[in-house]
Amino acid sequence: MIDRFNRRIEYVRVSLTDRCNLRCRYCMPESGVTKLAHSEILTYEEVLRVIRLLARLGIKKVRLTGGEPLIRMGIVDLIRSIKNLDGIERVVMTTNGVRLASMAEQLIDAGLDGINLSLDTLDGKIFQAISRRDCFDRVLEGLNKILSLGMRDVKLNCVPLAEINDDVDDLIELIRDRDVKLRFIELMPIGLARDFKGLPLSTLRDRIEQKFGRLMPIDSTEAQAGPAKYFRLNGFVGAIGFIDALEDKFCSTCNRVRLTAEGFLKLCLSAPAGLDVKRLMRGGLDDEQLMLRLSSAIYNKPLEHAFDGAIELNDRRRMYQVGG
Ligand code: 5AD
Ligand code: SF4
Repeated sequence: MIDRFNRRIEYVRVSLTDRCNLRCRYCMPESGVTKLAHSEILTYEEVLRVIRLLARLGIKKVRLTGGEPLIRMGIVDLIRSIKNLDGIERVVMTTNGVRLASMAEQLIDAGLDGINLSLDTLDGKIFQAISRRDCFDRVLEGLNKILSLGMRDVKLNCVPLAEINDDVDDLIELIRDRDVKLRFIELMPIGLARDFKGLPLSTLRDRIEQKFGRLMPIDSTEAQAGPAKYFRLNGFVGAIGFIDALEDKFCSTCNRVRLTAEGFLKLCLSAPAGLDVKRLMRGGLDDEQLMLRLSSAIYNKPLEHAFDGAIELNDRRRMYQVGG
């Protein structure tokens, strides 16, 4: 469907849980996280109902996120069910990869089309320093597994933090011979991330060019879809992307909405604007009524994010509660 700023909304990101098996410092505190109770998060039946209605409104792509989506029980069957909904063309996932090696085969069998793997570093010690957990080997095993199983759409997401994981040479070497997109994401000032300094992506770009040669822009329409700007390095199979929400606002072409684990339809990552879908569903709205509410909420999606604006305009939800 088209919103009031003439953007075509075709993509929903669905957070399945606010829980995570890592504790990345810019995302979650070590302890004292108030977890949502099971009754507060949407059941799979409710998730499927919302996606089915969104598909009738023109949503074609679903991304499952968290927290960490792979720690929610039954996710393989959920993926299969989403894939079977009329109108849904792609189901993809963002994961930290800790459980990937053991689940990859089932996920692919259920029809999962792509995986974005969060991988801030290829140094096990730095990985542990950032994520506070000793899981690096399992994550790497997960990556190798999905590649060896032939998964086509694999992207690596790295959030470079100044003086922590700002040496990304190993990550770049990883894509010399692998058809994988390596994306660098500017740290967004959400929640705990406000205590960290993201490495400016312009600095990173300069460093990469000094070491590996010119970054050549990729112009294909496929590469233009979404917020990343993609480049190629001479002699490399994989591509490098930069996602720079603060520097280049891509709000004018934003195509997405978000459903939080507790059933709130968020219209913009930064703004609290949205619709309490869970309350409406549990209050007994029928499909037609719910669809009307969903479509008028989406129609009124905000024009742009307010990360550089007044703090009070920003949403208090943290990244693990929204799913990126
Ligand atoms: N800014 C940018 N990216 C973030 N992520 C988590 N918090 C932030 C933030 N404040 C990333 C994780 C992961 C993805 C789900 O979101 O590193 O790759
Ligand atoms: Fe978990 Fe992702 Fe947050 Fe790390 S960034 S704690 S992997 S939700």
